[in-house]
Amino acid sequence: METRTVLFVDDDQETLNALKRTLRTEPYTSFFAKSGQEALDLLARERIHIVVTDLSMPEMGGLALLIQVEQKYPEIIRLVLSAHGDRDSILDAINKGSIYRYILKPWDNTELKLIVRKAIDVFNLQQQRRNLLKKLEEHNRLLEKRVEERTKQLLAVEREAEIGKYASQIVHNLNNPLQAIHGGLELADMIMSDENIDLKDLRECLHVVKSSAFGLKEIISGILIHARNKALHRSEQIDINEIIKRELDFFRLNPIYKYQIEKHVDLSDNLPCIVGNPIQIKQIIDNLVKNAIDAMEHSPEKRLTVETRLEDKAVVIRISDTGEGIAEEDLARIYSPDFTTKPIGKGTGLGLASVKTMVDAYSGDIQVESRKGEGTTFTVRIPIERPIGRT
Ligand SMILES: Nc1ncnc2c1ncn2[C@@H]1O[C@H](COP(=O)(O)OP(=O)(O)OP(=O)(O)O)[C@@H](O)[C@H]1O
Ligand SMILES: [Mg+2]
Repeated sequence: METRTVLFVDDDQETLNALKRTLRTEPYTSFFAKSGQEALDLLARERIHIVVTDLSMPEMGGLALLIQVEQKYPEIIRLVLSAHGDRDSILDAINKGSIYRYILKPWDNTELKLIVRKAIDVFNLQQQRRNLLKKLEEHNRLLEKRVEERTKQLLAVEREAEIGKYASQIVHNLNNPLQAIHGGLELADMIMSDENIDLKDLRECLHVVKSSAFGLKEIISGILIHARNKALHRSEQIDINEIIKRELDFFRLNPIYKYQIEKHVDLSDNLPCIVGNPIQIKQIIDNLVKNAIDAMEHSPEKRLTVETRLEDKAVVIRISDTGEGIAEEDLARIYSPDFTTKPIGKGTGLGLASVKTMVDAYSGDIQVESRKGEGTTFTVRIPIERPIGRT
């Protein structure tokens, strides 16, 4: 440890000489100054740990010196060595100069030595405390940096997982219009191989293929926007009834839908528009209708009901079927991306997972009621006014 240093300040040379003699053998280096200014000069040159000063001195008094020392060198321990007559000034020094101790003149040598040594102990303790605090601060900074780095890593991992999830949902949603195009072209082929080509049927068929291709293009441009980090946040006024009508049109290519299913479409006249992304709304309807058609494939009664309503400041879409229904134990799992009861190639299990993600993005909710062997109703509720910042 570096040798401690004590500076004594007194305008009386006799006092300084007496101090010099007394403290010669003490285990610290003593410095002496005859005035406040001399003390300040010395403080600027030397590293001083303790200052012991007289109070009544010409020009700069002890109190003024102590105040300056406290401001410039706050870690220095300050003491007063003064005559009894300076009682008021001592009190002042205690209050304003925040001194550690005062010693009255004439002093007792043993007591003086003891007090100065104690002051050095206090300085050492405070120094240790300062060093510990510094180490703690450094440690904290390091910790903060590590937490920051780790958070960044975790966010990157989470983002990657999110991208993966998003990618599989995109692929799934691309698949539906692709299937429609494929089915439409096969049907067109069939129509054209007939001797008496039914031009009306062919035109209708090609119209659906064209619309599906357009839908595909829309989804792809949505992905590109997302890739450019603008997310799927294209927002416009959406007439949900219009989207439902167009979507049901697509399904005309599905022979079960076209020839076997009895359709009830009841769209509310006073449905307000919602603000959002039409591609997402389209995909919600598309997935729910496709599931309903699939569920009725082997049902004796095939009835599809699509309704829209305005209920409690929310647009409600209800899609019901008279299909095979969902077993009670499966109800909790249907929104999981891993859950499908369909054979490989027919279903991926991603449909309802992506529907749920999209509905959530609209601060909406989706509910299901189902009875095994009787049918299923999905109810999607999308609030007309949504919290700012949502899709
Ligand atoms: N309307 C419905 N009637 C009966 N079961 C349904 C209905 N909708 C969904 N399900 C059940 O929920 C499962 C998950 O549906 P989801 O749409 O997520 O995937 P999928 O239809 O199996 O596959 P994909 O959507 O890729 O075609 C279905 O396999 C089916 O068992
Ligand atoms: Mg599905």
